[in-house]
Amino acid sequence: MVEAKHLLIVDDEKVILDILRTILSPEPLRLTMAASFAEARRVIQTDPVNLLLTDKNLPDGSGLDLVRQLKAADPIAEAIIITGFPSLDSAISAIELDVYDYVPKPFRDVFEIRRKVRQASSKQDISLENRRLLQELKEKNMALEAALAETQALQAELIQSEKLAGIGTLAAGIAHEISSPLFGVMGMAEAIAEEDDLPLAQGYARDIVEYCRQIRDIVVELSSYSRSSAHEYLTTVELSKVVADALKLVERSAVLGPVAFTMQVETGLYLHARTNELQQVFVNLIKNAGEAVYETFGDQDGGQVFVEAGRNDNYTWIRVRDNGPGIPEEKQRLVFDPFYTTKAPGKGTGLGLNIVWRIVTRYRGTIQVQSKDGQGTTFELRFPVDK
Ligand SMILES: Nc1ncnc2c1ncn2[C@@H]1O[C@H](COP(=O)(O)OP(=O)(O)OP(=O)(O)O)[C@@H](O)[C@H]1O
Ligand SMILES: [Mg+2]
Repeated sequence: MVEAKHLLIVDDEKVILDILRTILSPEPLRLTMAASFAEARRVIQTDPVNLLLTDKNLPDGSGLDLVRQLKAADPIAEAIIITGFPSLDSAISAIELDVYDYVPKPFRDVFEIRRKVRQASSKQDISLENRRLLQELKEKNMALEAALAETQALQAELIQSEKLAGIGTLAAGIAHEISSPLFGVMGMAEAIAEEDDLPLAQGYARDIVEYCRQIRDIVVELSSYSRSSAHEYLTTVELSKVVADALKLVERSAVLGPVAFTMQVETGLYLHARTNELQQVFVNLIKNAGEAVYETFGDQDGGQVFVEAGRNDNYTWIRVRDNGPGIPEEKQRLVFDPFYTTKAPGKGTGLGLNIVWRIVTRYRGTIQVQSKDGQGTTFELRFPVDK
């Protein structure tokens, strides 16, 4: 059951207090009567008051001061002032204090007082409801903010794990890549051990250094790809460089068969971005294209992947084009959804294009797919040119 509101009635004339008690006692309110300012103030301090009906001029203080104390304790409490001589000053104070209404003394119609108390109470109900709604809104907002933070953290985690999954695919190729310079190092080291001719041995040693450099480059590229990019700063990224790096990373993945990768990217095209994120975009698009082509051509020749880029007055564009199986029209709008994959279990997570889409849109770019079933696919990215 809802607790009744507390109405405090203050007047120094006993007969008036009696009249007010009589007309207000049928109301669903808890009444407290006070015959002086001091008594009323004690009530306000000790027993929270929702509604106040007070004489303006009390022998030991002003009714308006009581209103001030009431509103300080509870801003949505309501007050009605009883006054014999409404003056301009007191009217102004009453407005400033947000007094609900006046009742002139002597009373003309006692039931009018009851009506005014009821109206003040209804107004307060609305304020209470507003306060409750506001609180509810605040709580919902907080819950939403928490959910957003959680989603963002989850996304960051997914991006990271997707990168790691990508590395899994590349790892085989990289192992293959490292094994040939390593083989060279071993061969040269064995040759040095047998060699008496110093200049020849020095030549072998130089070869070893060169093989080691190759291995180091492979390792450096891999570690820069897997690093989380959240802490990396935006820089001016040369497109041809980042595309070439991405292409190299994908080509090393030996599982793609004899696909011909062609890159036609002018030099001098720049994007303001994080290198790692752009590299992720191109690795995913080129890897998808390579995988699509491999699906059609397998170990036969003929598979092609083109990466082209250019710029016009409004935007920088990049296209990744392949002659793989294409994407049926009704599936095209699904490819950017997280976890949408047509690849065999364990082969694809379906996160690649979703991550691409998220990175591209973060840089105010767009991504579109054009494809006809059986006739290859083109993904086109556009980034606005800052003017
Ligand atoms: N170039 C393309 N040609 C044909 N289909 C494609 C191409 N690129 C993407 N797709 C389709 O879109 C789906 C989603 O691609 P996405 O990169 O998001 O995930 P995935 O490649 O399946 O898995 P992951 O990228 O995690 O290895 C693919 O499974 C494939 O069906
Ligand atoms: Mg993919």
